[in-house]
Amino acid sequence: MRHPILLLAFLSAMLLFGACSSPEKRSTTGTNDAIEQRVDSLLALMTLEEKIGQLTLYSSDFDVTGPTMRSGYLDDVKSGKVGAIFNAFTAAFTTKIQKLAIENTRLKIPLLFGYDVIHGFKTAFPVPLGEAASWDTALCARSARVAAVEAAAAGLHWTFAPMVDIARDPRWGRITEGAGEDPHLGSAIAAARVRGFQGINEGKTLAANDVVLACVKHFAAYGAAEAGRDYNTTDMSDRVLREIYLPPYKAAIDAGALSVMSAFNELNGVPATGNQYLLTDILRNEWKFKGFVVTDYTSINEMIPHNVVADSAEAGELAINAGVDMDMQGGIFQFQLAKLVKQGRVSESTINEAVRRVLRLKFMLGLFEAPYGRSDTTRERERTMTPEHLEVSLDAARKSIVLLKNDSLKGNAILPLASTIKTIAIVGPLADSKRDMLGAWAGACDGNKCISLLEGMKKRFPQANILYAKGCNINDDSTNAFNAALQAASKADVVIAALGETSEMSGEAASRSNIGIPGVQEDLLKKLATTGKPVVLVLMNGRPLAIPWAAQNIPAIVEAWFLGTRAGDAIAEVLAGDYNPSGKLPVTFPRSVGQIPLYYNHKNTGRPINPKDKYTSKYLDIQNTPQFAFGHGLSYTTFAYSALRLEKSSIKTSEQVRVSIDVQNTGTREGVETAQFYIRDLVASVPRPVQELRGFQKVVLKAGETKTLTFTLTPEDLMFYNRQMKRVVEPGDIKIMVGGSSDNTLTTTLKVTQ
Ligand code: NOJ
Repeated sequence: MRHPILLLAFLSAMLLFGACSSPEKRSTTGTNDAIEQRVDSLLALMTLEEKIGQLTLYSSDFDVTGPTMRSGYLDDVKSGKVGAIFNAFTAAFTTKIQKLAIENTRLKIPLLFGYDVIHGFKTAFPVPLGEAASWDTALCARSARVAAVEAAAAGLHWTFAPMVDIARDPRWGRITEGAGEDPHLGSAIAAARVRGFQGINEGKTLAANDVVLACVKHFAAYGAAEAGRDYNTTDMSDRVLREIYLPPYKAAIDAGALSVMSAFNELNGVPATGNQYLLTDILRNEWKFKGFVVTDYTSINEMIPHNVVADSAEAGELAINAGVDMDMQGGIFQFQLAKLVKQGRVSESTINEAVRRVLRLKFMLGLFEAPYGRSDTTRERERTMTPEHLEVSLDAARKSIVLLKNDSLKGNAILPLASTIKTIAIVGPLADSKRDMLGAWAGACDGNKCISLLEGMKKRFPQANILYAKGCNINDDSTNAFNAALQAASKADVVIAALGETSEMSGEAASRSNIGIPGVQEDLLKKLATTGKPVVLVLMNGRPLAIPWAAQNIPAIVEAWFLGTRAGDAIAEVLAGDYNPSGKLPVTFPRSVGQIPLYYNHKNTGRPINPKDKYTSKYLDIQNTPQFAFGHGLSYTTFAYSALRLEKSSIKTSEQVRVSIDVQNTGTREGVETAQFYIRDLVASVPRPVQELRGFQKVVLKAGETKTLTFTLTPEDLMFYNRQMKRVVEPGDIKIMVGGSSDNTLTTTLKVTQ
């Protein structure tokens, strides 16, 4: 049965048969019996070496970094030692590499091309944390969709996104890649992003040529790195893991994601990449995940410095037996697995199962039918940075901006700027930065294509005299350029100060111990304030910043994150009032780094804060409250909430209840409000958080208009893990809270009976 010609004939017939077989019996994962048969038939033909090749992922810009350094990854592609490539893109380049695999390998198994398409491929969208501030899941799906269309046109099949790690520590630079601190919001956005990447809302299957397979990362609890230091240890109770950290991964998988990336960190003593509890017990057995697990880069190799294995062989053994299917870049599977099988430390059936999972996805993606399905360079050009894509980027940027503060001066709110304004000083090191508008993980995007704030303002205020001065650099201590900025300010009617971080100050390996505005920027801000001119602070940053002085002293503050290609246009529209800001914080902004971790869904403690009692849970030198609470965000209009009511005041544990509230636009212009629905279980067998988000709705209201919003509270919403770690609804009183921010709600009480 090892005769190559016979084999090839058999294989071609089999593939042809498979390709023509009907798609009936499609299961919810999109796989079907025909695919399973094709996978089995192909697997039966493969040597152990070929199987291991399918479990090996190489970067195209580095050679494998494993124990035996190799050069010439293309030779390895030709000899079938590689099943997938990342960091290679463009239709032409991926086609070239694909040809090497198809034309040179015995079984002609196509390569899978992956890339970190995190917030846009060529058209850049706001950093994910910023986009989460839109609380707009349709928007998140749409931007992921655009990213997928562009990435697929450039030859990619697979994105290492969405990143769904819950993060409660803004020192951690990777907080910028996720959706913030809340499991409910994080789950909704995780699912939306998966639907967007995979075109699920449009009824697409993975075989469509404009979708990319999502990879949920980083599994699990990477966001809980101690002290916010990247790659650091995580240690938490199973309750916190399951209630806070796991829900977004689960939501992404339920939405249809069929690949998962195992995290760098150890969790409760076991590195995530060698963690059977996570990768097999939870992911596959509890959640019925049918896709494959890829490591995060060299996370198998890193189990050696984690000190749980002595060498590469032990690392590989631990990883594959725990449930890892594909080794990214580390070379451990490539160099160790065959030996481990021979030694009986890894069974061939374990390898087969991993290969099956990878091949299944390759079949589902239609790679065997159309290995060059993404090689069309005309299509690539036509689908990249189209006017429509740029419009989605602008829309996302607008909706991500959060108006943190907008005081009145002589009876008038500082923002929006009057259309008659004559002279505007635009100062600060981020005011004319294009590249920084991208934020972290903007791999294939071109910073030169971004609109800076200065450009956006010039376009929007053509009649105004715009004075620009950089003032200082982002992160050094020179004050030499202060004077020019002060002079510009002194001549202006308003000062727009664009301050914050560089885009490299968040993202991977970008933890900060001080989360203030870096360098001398705050000194510049203080000087600008002394001019007596109204100052608008436009913050650009990838994480929550601690800005107690600015929050106290600067009358208007706009949180503009890193908004992507159309950043400057979107900010100018908001400053001008063409777009009425609608973003709400998806994460708490602390007053000081010393308060971290600070999150809205904390527990009460046995000694909740009482300012009159020293022996209660608080600090000597700072309040417990955040600078800006989770869910906070202002508008140029105002909203009033009233008549919070329950359909019935008492329900049984198995019943659901509707909760309604009236929201009125009490200002003078149309606006968008995001109503947030929280609960608190007042007495339970285990302490419950003082607030837990259970729903949110965005509503457009004209001036004076009132709408009634209704949320449904289900038994699922009331469930939690009891002392025996069983998910239950317990009878008792539930505080119901609805409002425009976690720190501003109306409340009522619901009774839950047995
Ligand atoms: C390491 C990062 O942690 C991960 O998020 C990314 O997908 C991989 N590198 C591949 O670039």
